[in-house]
Amino acid sequence: MIVHLKNLLKKAQKNNYALGSFNTHNLETTLGILRAAQAEESPLIISISPNSIRYAGLKPIVHIIETAAKNVVPTIPISFHLDHGENFHEASECIRAGFSSIMIDNSELPFDENIFQTKKVVEYAHRYGVWVQGEIGRVPKTKEEIKLLHEKPEEFLTKPEEAVEFFKKTGVDTLAIGIGNIHGKYKMTHPVKINWSRLREIHKVIKIPLVLHGASGLKKEEIKKAISLGIKIINIHTEINIAFSQALRKKINNDKKEVDPRKILLEPIKAIEEIVKEKIRMFGSSNRTKR
Ligand code: 13P
Ligand code: ZN
Repeated sequence: MIVHLKNLLKKAQKNNYALGSFNTHNLETTLGILRAAQAEESPLIISISPNSIRYAGLKPIVHIIETAAKNVVPTIPISFHLDHGENFHEASECIRAGFSSIMIDNSELPFDENIFQTKKVVEYAHRYGVWVQGEIGRVPKTKEEIKLLHEKPEEFLTKPEEAVEFFKKTGVDTLAIGIGNIHGKYKMTHPVKINWSRLREIHKVIKIPLVLHGASGLKKEEIKKAISLGIKIINIHTEINIAFSQALRKKINNDKKEVDPRKILLEPIKAIEEIVKEKIRMFGSSNRTKR
């Protein structure tokens, strides 16, 4: 069943666990995520990025998620969210399409401009009861940015006093932060160093739910520590892509005669279900559909 993000977060805050935010692109990924939610009896967020909207079309992907959530997991609360929204137009389209939460990511803009653009989206979204996630600090994704993170970390790390000013001036409902976290697959082979003291300082002054992007590849102990220091939403995309593509490659290589996509795609869907189940258990959201 589809619910508003605020209902999921209320329970997560009360019971000290985090919600997984899992990126989808199509029916197969959505089914893998939802089957994991069912198996673990876990609430979760399905996230859609602008690239996935360009790939599948906004209405088709929304209809897939809504219909599958209603019919495949009618008793499991699921929320869907725009991930890394790029501008006002995109955000407003998603609000019209029924999202209960949208991210507006202007983290690469100068501080004042980030505030200005984010506030504009918050004012509009709140008129429709839609929640907004802003970002302050940066989460790198390209090789160049990752190099820069190591050379000049302060360009990426969220400054607690800026986070407070950003929250007060924009009125965002959730906040994505930079604490040494990294997007993409590069970090699956290169260690990530989370700045725990920075997260502690941010958590002391920011009371709205904090969002950890770039969480693929983080160890269980790191995830647990992040949750204990105020992280309430944890974003996973890269590990879903890896699970899907590795299983697909294996199936095609092992069974060169099979031409039925429904048979070829069974194992990739199962691989997504398995990785999402593992994350749900790490995040502590198993068996939380009623409490
Ligand atoms: P990963 O690339 O680590 O999976 O991060 C996902 C993410 O932050 C989506 O917004
Ligand atoms: Zn992200």
